[in-house]
Amino acid sequence: MSPSHSSTSYREIHRRSITEPQDFWLEAASGLEWETFPTTAVDDSAAPLYRWFTDGTLNITRNALDRHVDAGHGDRTALIYDSAVTENSRSYSYAELLKEVSAAAGALKGLGVGSGDRVLLYMPMIPQAVIAMLACARLGAVHSVVFGGFAAKEIAARIDDAAPDTVITATGGIEPSRRIEYLPKVAEAVQRAQHKVRDVVVVHREGFANSVEQASEQTQAQWHAWDTVTTQAEPAGAVSVKATHPLYVLYTSGTTGKPKGVVRDQGGTAVALSWSVPAIFDIGPGQTMLTASDVGWVVGHSYIVYAPLLAGATSVLYEGKPIGTPDAGAFWRMVQQHRITSLFTAPTALRAIRKADPGASAVADYDISSLKYLFSAGERLDPETQRWIGQALNVPVIDNWWQTETGWPIAANPVGIEQLPVKEGSATLPMVGYDISVLDPLGEPLPAGQEGNIAIKLPLPPGTLYSLWGDDARYIESYLSAFDGYYTTGDSGYIDQDGYIFVMGRTDDVINVSGHRLSTGEIEAAVAEHPAVAECAVIGLADELKGQRPAGFLVLKTGVDITEDQLRQELVAHVRSSIGPVADFKEVAVVQALPKTRSGKILRKTMRQIADGKDYTVPSTIEDAGVIEDLLPVLRRNL
Ligand code: COA
Ligand code: AMP
Repeated sequence: MSPSHSSTSYREIHRRSITEPQDFWLEAASGLEWETFPTTAVDDSAAPLYRWFTDGTLNITRNALDRHVDAGHGDRTALIYDSAVTENSRSYSYAELLKEVSAAAGALKGLGVGSGDRVLLYMPMIPQAVIAMLACARLGAVHSVVFGGFAAKEIAARIDDAAPDTVITATGGIEPSRRIEYLPKVAEAVQRAQHKVRDVVVVHREGFANSVEQASEQTQAQWHAWDTVTTQAEPAGAVSVKATHPLYVLYTSGTTGKPKGVVRDQGGTAVALSWSVPAIFDIGPGQTMLTASDVGWVVGHSYIVYAPLLAGATSVLYEGKPIGTPDAGAFWRMVQQHRITSLFTAPTALRAIRKADPGASAVADYDISSLKYLFSAGERLDPETQRWIGQALNVPVIDNWWQTETGWPIAANPVGIEQLPVKEGSATLPMVGYDISVLDPLGEPLPAGQEGNIAIKLPLPPGTLYSLWGDDARYIESYLSAFDGYYTTGDSGYIDQDGYIFVMGRTDDVINVSGHRLSTGEIEAAVAEHPAVAECAVIGLADELKGQRPAGFLVLKTGVDITEDQLRQELVAHVRSSIGPVADFKEVAVVQALPKTRSGKILRKTMRQIADGKDYTVPSTIEDAGVIEDLLPVLRRNL
C-alpha cells in the first residue's frame, strides 16, 4: 500500500469523493505547495462549465521540481532518458532538471514568452521535450505538443487554432526504419499557417541535416538554436498563476476533420495527477516508472512528465519501440537497468512483443524482479493478451480506461490503495470524482450488464478538460449536450453487478490504430481530395495487432481510368503527406456504390459490422438495399 493513501476501502473513498467533493478535493490539494490555498474546490456558478480551486494560486513546476529540491531531495533522479535508437542514456537529478528547466524558461522569457502565451512543441522523445514543456508551465505559458507522426498540414492547423508566437522543435526524430528531418515540415507549417509565428527554437541533434538556414529562409520567423538561447539565459523562477490558468492544449481527433483542442488547468492537473500516481500506479518517491508512450499523447503528458515528477519519483523517457530496437526484450532490459517498479504501455505494444517473441523468451534474459505491475491503456486490453503477458512476467496486469479529454484514468484498479480482483476485459471501478452511468439513447440509465453510452455525471473531477481551446460552444455541443447533466465519453460499454466497467468500443467514427486515436472523417477528407474519387467511406477494420486499421471504400468518378493499385499508391502517399504516417492508411477498395440512407448518410456502422463478421443491422431508411448485397464480398474479404 502506498504511504500516501490510508487503509480505508477504495469503494468508501470513491463514495466520499462523490458525496463530499469539496472536502475530498481540498484534502487532496493540501499535499501540494500553493501560494494561496483555495477555499473552495468546485465552482459551479457557470454550469455546465465547472472550474476547480478558483481562488487558489500555485505553479505546477514548483510542485514538480523546486518543492523536492527545497526538501533536500535534489540528488534524487527525476528523469532517465533511455534512447534505444541512438544507444544513449542520461539521467537528470531533480536539481539538474530544475536548473535546465529554469534556463529554458529564462530563454523563452527572453524571447518574449509570458504567462498565457501559447508555445507549440514538435519534438521527438528527447529530454528537451520534457524540459520545454516544464519551462512553459514555469512561466504560465501554455504548451501545445504535436506528435511527431503528424505532417506539416496538421501542425499548421494547430498553429492556426492555438496561435502560438513561439515554436520549439528539433532537427529530427528517429524511427527504426528511417530518420525524419523535422525542419522542412516545421518550415512548411509555419509558412502555411495564417497565424504568423515569431520565433522558432531548434534543438540540434547529431545525424540530421543542419538545415536551419534553408528552413528560416522559407519563413518570416526568427530561428534560434536551443543551446545558444538556453546558455545565454537568466534562469527564470516559477510564476504563480491561478489554479484555473491553462497548462496546456492538446489536440485530439473528433468525428470531424477539425481536431479538438483539449485544455486543462494548472491547479486541477496538479491535484488530480498527484492523487492518481500513487493510488493507481503505485508510484511514490524513490520509485521508477516507465510509461512507454510519447510526449505527443496525453499518456505522455500525464505519466511521463507531470505525475511522476509531482510524486518525487523517477520517470523513464524511452526513445524507441517495444520491438525492433533492437528486439522484443527492450522493455525488460529497461526494467532491469533502471529498476523499474511500474511499467505502463498499450495493448498493441504487448501484441507486437507477443508476435515477435511468442514464448516471451526475452523475459528470462533480464532480472525483472523490481517490477510490481504492468499497466495498460489506450484501448481495451483483450483477455488473451492480458493472460499471456501476465504469465510471462508473473505480475498483475492492470487495465485502465481514459481519454485525452480526461487526462487521467476514468476507471482503473487502484492498486496503491487496495488491489481489487482483476476481471478480464474490465477496466475495474470508476476513479474518485467520476460518477459513471450507462445510458440508453434517450438518456435513461440502463441496468447492470446492459450495454449503452457511457456517460459521466457533471462535474468532471479536477485535471480533466474544462473546455476546448477558445470554444466553449463546441465543448458544450460535442460533450455536454447529448445527455443533460452528463459528459458523453463517446464510448460504449456496460457496468456489471459488482460495479466493474467494461468498455467495448466507440459510438462515433473515431478509430484506434496502434493505440493512436484517429478520425475516419479526417482521413476521408484527405482521400476525397484525389481527383479520381467521387465519394468515399473510411472505416476501422478489426486488426489482430493494431486493434483497428483504416480502410477506404471508394467510388470513382465516371470515366476515370486508373488501376486500383496506382490509386492506392497515390492515396497512401497523399494521406501520409496530408495527415502523416501515423494515420497508417494503406488499404483501399474500389466499389460501385456506397450504402446510404435516403437522407444520404453513409452506413459506416453497417459496413464495419459486416467487415468484422458481426451480426449487422440494415436500417429501414436505406436508399437501396442492393448496394449492401453487392458490397458483401468486398467487405467480407476484410481486404
Ligand atoms: N514520428 C514519425 N513517424 C512516426 C512516429 C513519429 N513519432 N511514430 C510512428 N510513426 C510512423 C511509423 O514509422 C510508421 O510509418 P511507416 O508506415 O512508414 O512504417 C507509421 O507512423 C505507423 O506507426 P505505428 O502505428 O507506430 O506502427 P509501427 O508498425 O511503426 O509500430 C507498434 C507498431 C505497435 C510497435 C507501435 O505502434 C507502438 O509502439 N504502439 C504503442 C502506442 C502507444 O504507446 N500509444 C500510447 C497511447 S496510450
Ligand atoms: P485517447 O484520447 O487517444 O487516449 O483515446 C481515448 C479512447 O481510447 C477512449 O475513448 C476509448 O475508446 C479508448 N480507450 C482508451 N483506454 C481504453 C481502455 N483501457 N479500454 C477500452 N478503451 C480504451
